[in-house]
Amino acid sequence: MSPALTIRPYSEGALSQAAAKLRAGELVAFPTETVYGLGADATNADAVAGIYAAKKRPSFNPLISHFPDRDSAAKHAKFDARADKLAEAFWPGALTLVLPRNADSDVCDLVTAGLPSIAVRVPAHPMARELLRAVGRPVAAPSANRSGKISPTTAGHVAGSLGDAIGMILDGGPCGVGLESTVIDLTTDRVVMLRPGGVTADQVSKLLGTEVIMAESDDTAPKSPGMLTSHYAPGLPVRLEATNADPAKHGHEVLLGFGDCNTKGFDAVLWLSKTGDDIEAAANLFAKLHEADQSHFAGIAIAPIPDHGLGIAINDRLKRASAPRAPHDGK
Ligand code: TXA
Ligand code: MG
Repeated sequence: MSPALTIRPYSEGALSQAAAKLRAGELVAFPTETVYGLGADATNADAVAGIYAAKKRPSFNPLISHFPDRDSAAKHAKFDARADKLAEAFWPGALTLVLPRNADSDVCDLVTAGLPSIAVRVPAHPMARELLRAVGRPVAAPSANRSGKISPTTAGHVAGSLGDAIGMILDGGPCGVGLESTVIDLTTDRVVMLRPGGVTADQVSKLLGTEVIMAESDDTAPKSPGMLTSHYAPGLPVRLEATNADPAKHGHEVLLGFGDCNTKGFDAVLWLSKTGDDIEAAANLFAKLHEADQSHFAGIAIAPIPDHGLGIAINDRLKRASAPRAPHDGK
C-alpha cells in the first residue's frame, strides 16, 4: 500500500519526524548538496529492500551509506592515509569513498551487495547532516527517482517520481551541485575513479600525489559493481530455476527456497521467502547466498522466482552470481 505523502520544509519537528521514520524502517527522501536521496536505515535489510521496490530498480547495485561525520563512517569502513586525506579535504561534500568494510559493521549485505567493501559519504547539506546525526545509524540513499529517470534536485522532482511510493520528503530547496558525488575506490593500491562527479580526478590526483585511474578506460581497474557480470559470485556452483533435486547429476545441493517451490530431495533448504514475498526475498538474498556458500554442499540450487516486482532485480543478481568468472571480473 502506498503511504500518504508528507512534504515538510526545515523545522526541528520535521527533522525528528523524519529521523523517527527512518529508525522505524520507513523510507524518507532528503536533500543533499548533490541530489535528493531516498534514505533507509542501512542496518535494516527490509527497509533497504524497500528502496529497490520504490525505485523499481532492476538490479542490486551496492548503495552509498551516509554519515554525519568521518568518525561515524570509520565505525564501518577502514580508512587508510589516502582516505583520511581525501576526507579531510572534501568532506562534508560531493565525494564517496569505497573502502574495505569493517568486520563488525552492522550495515546489511543488501547495501554492500555482498561485497567486502562499503561506499561511505558525508554530505554537506545542513539538513542531511542534522538528519543523519538524529538517526544515529548509517543511512543508505541512492538518488530519489524511479530507476532510469533523471536524478531529482528538488522536492517536487521527488514527489513527481516517487510520490506514490514513499511517505515523506524533507524539503531543503534545490540542490546546489545537481550531479551525484564522485566515487573513488581505495580498496587496492591504486586510486580508481568509479564515477565522475563534482570532485574532479585532477583535484584528487593533486592532493594524493598519485595518478587517478578511470575505471572506464582501464580493463584491469576495479569496476563499479553494476558493470560486472559476476560481482558477487559464490565459490559453489549456482543452479538457477531449480525445480527438482537430482543428486546423480548435480551432487548434494542446498536449495534457496521461494514460495511453494519443490523442496523434495534437497539436502537442506534456506528460505529466501517461505511465503513468496519478493521484498522479504530481496532482504534475505545476500545473507542466504553467503550462508549457502559456506555450507559443505556440492552446489547451490535456486528455486524459480517470478520475474516481477523485486523478482526482476533478484533474478538479475542471481544470473550474475551464476555466471562463469572472467579474468579481472570481480574483486
Ligand atoms: O550524490 C550521491 O552520491 C547521491 C546522494 C543521494 O548522496 N547518492 C547516490 O547513491 O548516488 P547511489 O547509491 O546511487 O550510488 C551508488 C554508487 C554506484 O556507482 C555504485 O556502483 C557505487 O556507488 N558503490 C557503492 N558501493 C560500492 C562498493 N562497495 N564498491 C564499489 N562501488 C560501490
Ligand atoms: Mg541515481
